[in-house]
Amino acid sequence: MVRRSLGGGGGVRLWWWCCCCILLFLAGGGAAQRSPAPATPAYKTLSGKAPLVIAKGGFSGIFPDSSSSAYQFAVSATSSDTTLWCNVQLTKDGVGICLRNLLLSNCTSINQVYPAGKKTYMVNGKRVEGWFPIDYTMSSLQTVILTQAIWSRSDKFDFAYFPILPVTNVSNLAKPSTLWLNIEHDIFYRQHGLNMTKYILSISKTIAATHISSPELGFLQSISGRVNRRTKLVFCFLDAASTDPSSNQTYGSLLSNLTFIKTVASGIMVPKEYIWPVTTSNYIQPSKSIVRDAHTAGLEIYASDFANDRIIPYNYSYDPLEEYLNFVGNDNFSVDGVLTDHPLTAAAAIGCFTNLNVSSKTDHGNPLVISHNGASGDYPDCTDLAYQKAVDDGADVIDCFVQMTSDGVPICMSSINLFDTTNVQATVFSSRASIIKEIQPTPGIFTFNLTWAEISSSDLKPKISSPLSTFYLVRNPLCKNAGKFFSLSEFLAFAKNKDLSGIMIIIQNAPFLAKSGFDVVDSVTNALSDAGYNNQTTKVKEVMIQSKDSAVLVKLKQETKYKLVYTLPPNIGDASASSLVDVKKFADAVVVDRDSIFPVSKGFIMRGTNLTKDLHSAGLAVFRNEFVSPPWDFFSDVTVEINTYVQSVNVDGFITDFPKTVKRYKMNSCTGLGNNMPQYMLPVEIGGLAQLLVGTQGQPPSLSPMPVLNASDVTEPPLPPAAPRNAPGGSATGSTPAPGASPSGAHAVASTRAGILLMVTVICASLLI
Ligand SMILES: *[C@@H]1O[C@H](CO)[C@@H](O)[C@H](O)[C@H]1NC(C)=O
Ligand SMILES: *[C@@H]1O[C@H](CO)[C@@H](O)[C@H](O)[C@H]1NC(C)=O
Ligand SMILES: *[C@@H]1O[C@H](CO)[C@@H](O)[C@H](O)[C@H]1NC(C)=O
Ligand SMILES: *[C@@H]1O[C@H](CO)[C@@H](O)[C@H](O)[C@H]1NC(C)=O
Ligand SMILES: *[C@@H]1O[C@H](CO)[C@@H](O)[C@H](O)[C@H]1NC(C)=O
Ligand SMILES: *[C@@H]1O[C@H](CO)[C@@H](O)[C@H](O)[C@H]1NC(C)=O
Ligand SMILES: *[C@@H]1O[C@H](CO)[C@@H](O)[C@H](O)[C@H]1NC(C)=O
Ligand SMILES: *[C@@H]1O[C@H](CO)[C@@H](O)[C@H](O)[C@H]1NC(C)=O
Ligand SMILES: *[C@@H]1O[C@H](CO)[C@@H](O)[C@H](O)[C@H]1NC(C)=O
Ligand SMILES: *[C@@H]1O[C@H](CO)[C@@H](O)[C@H](O)[C@H]1NC(C)=O
Ligand SMILES: *[C@@H]1O[C@H](CO)[C@@H](O)[C@H](O)[C@H]1NC(C)=O
Ligand SMILES: *[C@@H]1O[C@H](CO)[C@@H](O)[C@H](O)[C@H]1NC(C)=O
Repeated sequence: MVRRSLGGGGGVRLWWWCCCCILLFLAGGGAAQRSPAPATPAYKTLSGKAPLVIAKGGFSGIFPDSSSSAYQFAVSATSSDTTLWCNVQLTKDGVGICLRNLLLSNCTSINQVYPAGKKTYMVNGKRVEGWFPIDYTMSSLQTVILTQAIWSRSDKFDFAYFPILPVTNVSNLAKPSTLWLNIEHDIFYRQHGLNMTKYILSISKTIAATHISSPELGFLQSISGRVNRRTKLVFCFLDAASTDPSSNQTYGSLLSNLTFIKTVASGIMVPKEYIWPVTTSNYIQPSKSIVRDAHTAGLEIYASDFANDRIIPYNYSYDPLEEYLNFVGNDNFSVDGVLTDHPLTAAAAIGCFTNLNVSSKTDHGNPLVISHNGASGDYPDCTDLAYQKAVDDGADVIDCFVQMTSDGVPICMSSINLFDTTNVQATVFSSRASIIKEIQPTPGIFTFNLTWAEISSSDLKPKISSPLSTFYLVRNPLCKNAGKFFSLSEFLAFAKNKDLSGIMIIIQNAPFLAKSGFDVVDSVTNALSDAGYNNQTTKVKEVMIQSKDSAVLVKLKQETKYKLVYTLPPNIGDASASSLVDVKKFADAVVVDRDSIFPVSKGFIMRGTNLTKDLHSAGLAVFRNEFVSPPWDFFSDVTVEINTYVQSVNVDGFITDFPKTVKRYKMNSCTGLGNNMPQYMLPVEIGGLAQLLVGTQGQPPSLSPMPVLNASDVTEPPLPPAAPRNAPGGSATGSTPAPGASPSGAHAVASTRAGILLMVTVICASLLI
């Protein structure tokens, strides 16, 4: 059934929101900034044509490698130009099959079907243990199914019963795309009485493979001149220190003799580190000359080992699309193709993101790029470096999460608890821990237990956030303690003359802080007016103040004319009409978490909620590049996720740890293409992958109904006045009067506001499993 729904009629990427997204799109709602249709870019490949996208075993990042769905999805989701890669192995009776690995046990259910089938053979001089294709006939493999070979990927599709496919069947799937056959082992099969040369020559009469590759030069020599002249032969380099068993030379030494390779092959394939070497601490080094050398020798050069869900060098900020651009869109060279488990990202990089001038200015149009604690994906939250990077990367709005120090200074810090944001436990302040039940049940050292002088002292070091550390994903270790914190007034001075459309100030815990003697609302409005944000002496056009406490916004609404942004509770599926009426009384925009728009179960989006219909326009928050952050539906690629929210939900803004990625998305050269939009830039079908699991054991559990936001949820008692404050804990002895004591710099209530906007927060709730 799965195969049925994937095959033929248009593939799986239908639009759930089809009509409305087109309408909104043409109406120009919140769609990305329009760019003119791209001039056909000239690629620095050998031929000048666009680099090939080679789908390794199909779209193997989602479906089991070499399965019919993997191959069909690679074409239907990406492009009919996608080249399908089949790694050819031979069965006992000489049938060629496509299999990721020489060992059946690494990518199929064979150890369950034939538990006693384990063997040990010599493979290229090494003893290898497992289940080998040479021990099984094609018919004895009929009950064996393909499984996901990479443990970190979803195993849900293993239950869809994909059979092992003969090469000839895959070549039928490949039409109109093209087929690439890789012969991983010739010598091994020859040692067991099977003749790979003979097999390839026999099928090449009926199958038109565009490329045949092998890491055994001797094999390419054996078929050279004997296959179709249009079939390109490609020599695959493996690890430089290992030996090609057919020539007994190391790949490293073969690399120095490209003119010799050219006598056998028309191209080479190299692991990507051959081109951009990577240090042991995972940073890229300057590129090698290998692409130029290959092109000079008249050889095409392909790069292998791409996948969206691998840890890539820190230089790419966990953005797989950025990595492709370094190979296909840099100033000096482009490879002639990339071998990848996630062909869609490669195709988008090549088709829509090469030759962009990402440093060019924007008109600050929608969707807005709103930083989340500055560029916190690259530097510690809310530090000068994080904010500077956000501005440099083209953020439209930078944000400050306000906390109070014991001496009443409002500062920017992503958490009220210094455990989360600094190395405080390793400092002289480590004794200031206490449990404050209104905030959290566990001990913390809170910003209001230290003075600003103490927090900004060199003893206390900022700490880079690692929201996905449970997946062992850490952010750039070189920057893990870099930068210094800003007080709110330093932040306002910093932002004042930057090319920004606005700033966003977030207020939390106001009722608790009032009890402790801090009027955080007044502190913020005073800082703003002191910095000149009320009389247009700044370049920044708009001040937004965000809170999940409606009482804070109600107070601000009475006293100021700032744009007010309400954070909706997490995981709501809809909002009652009366609650919306109430929200509109005090807010101009709303922040919603991603799960409230596209609820997720076991990493799969189940459906869309009604929330975006109720709130006519949307902006979304905390987008993260790390591949575990988006649901499977977005193929471990945050650009796919952003694109889907833009086209399906009409988003007004994205709140993100990585402003660069969203800014680059806004500049892509395909947004303006309308009906000519390439397949790989269409929004994903919401719930499409989960539908494929229906009726299989892999089906994710259905979602329980989500609560509806009621009017009672959005009304709160008014903020209490700040209590008189005693000398707070630690060495802080109230040297400065609380700014809350000074008269409010508030202004007349603003004129009626237009319709409500919606911002959506993406929190970690949608993590996998
Ligand atoms: C098969 O998988 C095992 C464990 O995941 C791995 O160590 C081994 O290298 C794989 N074998 C091959 C031939 O790739
Ligand atoms: C391969 O194709 C043949 C002929 O179309 C078909 O009979 C066979 O069932 C296919 N095998 C698999 C595993 O799909
Ligand atoms: C394998 O087949 C090819 C093509 O038929 C033939 O030229 C070659 O001699 C065979 N090799 C062996 C070892 O039989
Ligand atoms: C490579 O080495 C193996 C084992 O030492 C030998 O059998 C084979 O003939 C050699 N091949 C070449 C091309 O020298
Ligand atoms: C390149 O390889 C060929 C064939 O092995 C050999 O004859 C030639 O000397 C090599 N050239 C260099 C520069 O190593
Ligand atoms: C990658 O990042 C490291 C650390 O910041 C830097 O030293 C290196 O030059 C970067 N690599 C490239 C190619 O820019
Ligand atoms: C391109 O070449 C120039 C000059 O050799 C060099 O300075 C620059 O770093 C290269 N850029 C890349 C991306 O390799
Ligand atoms: C990119 O844009 C910046 C800023 O607008 C400009 O200074 C620069 O010249 C542009 N670069 C190219 C290659 O057009
Ligand atoms: C704007 O406000 C700031 C701070 O209150 C003040 O110093 C400045 O003189 C004001 N500028 C104008 C033009 O009113
Ligand atoms: C969305 O609203 C429609 C009616 O407007 C209702 O039938 C449907 O059940 C709602 N869907 C969800 C998921 O609440
Ligand atoms: C909204 O009100 C209904 C009935 O009063 C209640 O059952 C539901 O739980 C409320 N929703 C929320 C989100 O509190
Ligand atoms: C931290 O501040 C709170 C509120 O002022 C106070 O209750 C608590 O005792 C302080 N903790 C320490 C260790 O000073």
